[in-house]
Amino acid sequence: MVSSLRCVREELGDVTLFDIQEKENFAKGKALDLEQNGAILGYDRNIKGSANPEDLADTDVCIITAGFPRKPGQSRADLIGLNHKIMKQWGENIGKYAPNAFVIVITNPVDAMVYAVWKASGLPANKVVGMAGVLDSARFQLFVARALGVATKDVRCMVLGGHGDDMVPIVSATTVNGIPVTQLMSREALQPHIDRTRKGGGEIVNLLGTSAFYAPLQGHVLRRAVRHRRRRRREDPRAQPDRRGEGDAREERQVGPRPVRRDEQAVILRDSAKGLPATAALPAFVASSSA
Ligand code: LAC
Repeated sequence: MVSSLRCVREELGDVTLFDIQEKENFAKGKALDLEQNGAILGYDRNIKGSANPEDLADTDVCIITAGFPRKPGQSRADLIGLNHKIMKQWGENIGKYAPNAFVIVITNPVDAMVYAVWKASGLPANKVVGMAGVLDSARFQLFVARALGVATKDVRCMVLGGHGDDMVPIVSATTVNGIPVTQLMSREALQPHIDRTRKGGGEIVNLLGTSAFYAPLQGHVLRRAVRHRRRRRREDPRAQPDRRGEGDAREERQVGPRPVRRDEQAVILRDSAKGLPATAALPAFVASSSA
């Protein structure tokens, strides 16, 4: 639901929410709710719910969140047996009805599930990707920013490897407005943030009782979808120039340090901290956590 809302708010296209046959009405109800939400928020996209794979026809972007999420005490790998069957089924459906789609897999264990969807769909390897690196990097980015008291947008970082507890936050590629993070924090001070990033998904599962959903479904989905849509438009001779989403492209940032004199560092950090909102000014949202 989070990714659907983001897609329609950004006017990326019309959206179809798929669910299993027994929950088709649930998908239809969610779709209607989201569509009515557009009248309030000002987006104007068609949204429908379906359990019929034929409705995948002509889809540009498929985002797969189907399957079982983790419960406390489970590792992502524990889901492999349950979720593999679902990926195989949807991979085959996509290969049959939407062979030109770009596919983003969110379902865990994501590395294996991407492979399963790719195999079942028969799509080219560069059309089936998983969501993980952006999420893991975002977590590390947040933890470093909070530790240093700077704005998250000023921290650049990269987390490589699989989406599991052995992922590798790349310290040498972590900078704050160009300053190597190692000039601002000792390796010992960074270590808890590296460890927390590696176990970032589990931390939320232990709190929520289920998997995280806001961060996993936001930036990555949008950036990938915007890029794919732009490419499709470039290939379409009838299309008007489309400037939407260029902001996202500009925000795709270089990682890696740039030379910064020591005497510039204090100014850079102070300016970044100025970008943070005053805590007292933050609004509070009080709601049922299941709403
Ligand atoms: C996480 C899940 C999505 O890391 O794997 O939160």
